Amino acid sequence: MKQITSVAEMQAEARQLLKRDVTIGLVPTMGALHEGHLSLIRKAAEENDEVVVSIFVNPIQFNDSKDLDNYPRTLEEDLALAEDAGATIVFTPEAEHMYHSDNETMVQVTRLTNHLCGIARGSGHFIGVCTVVAKLFNIVHPDVAYFGQKDAQQALVIQRMVRDLNFPLKVEICPIIREKDGLAMSSRNKRLTDEQREEALALFGALELGKELIESGEKNSLTVINQMCEHILAHGDIEIDYMNIVSTETLDDVETIDEMVLLAGAVFVGDVRLIDNMLVDPAC
Ligand code: PAF
Repeated sequence: MKQITSVAEMQAEARQLLKRDVTIGLVPTMGALHEGHLSLIRKAAEENDEVVVSIFVNPIQFNDSKDLDNYPRTLEEDLALAEDAGATIVFTPEAEHMYHSDNETMVQVTRLTNHLCGIARGSGHFIGVCTVVAKLFNIVHPDVAYFGQKDAQQALVIQRMVRDLNFPLKVEICPIIREKDGLAMSSRNKRLTDEQREEALALFGALELGKELIESGEKNSLTVINQMCEHILAHGDIEIDYMNIVSTETLDDVETIDEMVLLAGAVFVGDVRLIDNMLVDPAC
């Protein structure tokens, strides 16, 4: 496995690979790799000749500088895990090389970002995500880019950006990988104490409760959301950032649940922000 730190070198490498007509799978990450990322890397390795894993804690997508400073950074471990899972190139640029000091070009998906994390984290969050992902696409030239369903809104936003800007690649969204007890794998889980780790489970519990209610015939979103929030508040010292039931296509709030919906929640356990979601079909 090669480690490339320079943008120019990564672009030159991608050009060589394109000439050789090999397929490139890209797994964009911010590091602190866990089983969720590894499942994306394995899938990319199954489906492509070359797998590029980018590891870059993208400063411009953080609305809170403390969150950026505290984001776990475990590069040595990440390199070993990525290689083991099938990465052939790890791209680890420095922020100074990714962004010129006078950078003034940003990519914005306007409407899908006006919901959920786009409101909770501020409009700059998805501008930061789209800008860095667009840059990675231009640097790596992947045939396929892999993202996790855990960031359901991010996945939809990136699919829309790829469609709207005609990026010549396919986006694959892979299922959420959970711990045995249901906690969605996240790099941020590393920051939880044992007690907070237990409390964090309340988010998954709430989604399961919401699913049960909808599948047993409850159609009123507000009733479901209230019960999900009560579940969370009864199970620990957790602050709810948002808990919504939204359309799987537009992310608009749904009042009456007649078709497949996305239950999406974000909570703070201490100062660690966690998100999770579940697709629920009332017909099931
Ligand atoms: O999901 C993430 O880890 C990040 O938002 C991404 C897609 C790597 C962009 O920085």
